[in-house]
Amino acid sequence: MTILHIDSSINGDNSASRTLSGAIVDRLKPANWGEQIIYRDLVANPIPHLTLDAFAANLDLEEFLAADTVVIGAPMYNFTLPTQLKAWIDRIVVAGRTFHYTANGPEGLVGGKRVVIALARGGFYHEGAPAAALEHLETYLRGVFNFIGIEPEFVAADGLAVGPEQREESLGLALGETIRLAA
Ligand SMILES: Cc1cc2nc3c(=O)[nH]c(=O)nc-3n(C[C@H](O)[C@H](O)[C@H](O)COP(=O)(O)O)c2cc1C
Repeated sequence: MTILHIDSSINGDNSASRTLSGAIVDRLKPANWGEQIIYRDLVANPIPHLTLDAFAANLDLEEFLAADTVVIGAPMYNFTLPTQLKAWIDRIVVAGRTFHYTANGPEGLVGGKRVVIALARGGFYHEGAPAAALEHLETYLRGVFNFIGIEPEFVAADGLAVGPEQREESLGLALGETIRLAA
């Protein structure tokens, strides 16, 4: 069993999504899984923007397909995902490998994989929130993973930019929520 752990925050040790994704991996890994965790820091080692040539030797796709569980740290920047993470998504959405078109429309080809996403957002985007229409992080990630045949799970820390007390409370609640993932 392999866990692929991906981070994409530019905030280093102060990153909420890195804290949360790390906690999720800790919850999901049995004690003896150490050597089967693959860690990709997309800020320290960025994937270039997509080009046609990139489809020829797409090791990121093979790594994704080989993983049983994928844990992703996904901060909201400018209402959507970091470009570093988008470059990785561009490697795993591949016609003929992770989806195909049928007479009835597109069909996802990836099954039997667990994807858990740690969201970190400065504001609030729940239904009815003034900024709800600007939420293009969770909605995008859910849509793109659904497209390739996966129902992702989310753990979210919201309101992180509101103030230090709100940040502590939101992160604490999100870390607490990781307990249910192991169940
Ligand atoms: C460049 C940048 C852009 C941001 N844009 C948004 C935004 O559009 N909406 C929002 O709610 N928070 C925004 N934030 C706040 C982050 O979502 C928040 O700080 C979160 O903790 C980021 O996750 P991280 O700590 O893992 O990097 C932004 C932060 C940065 C650094």
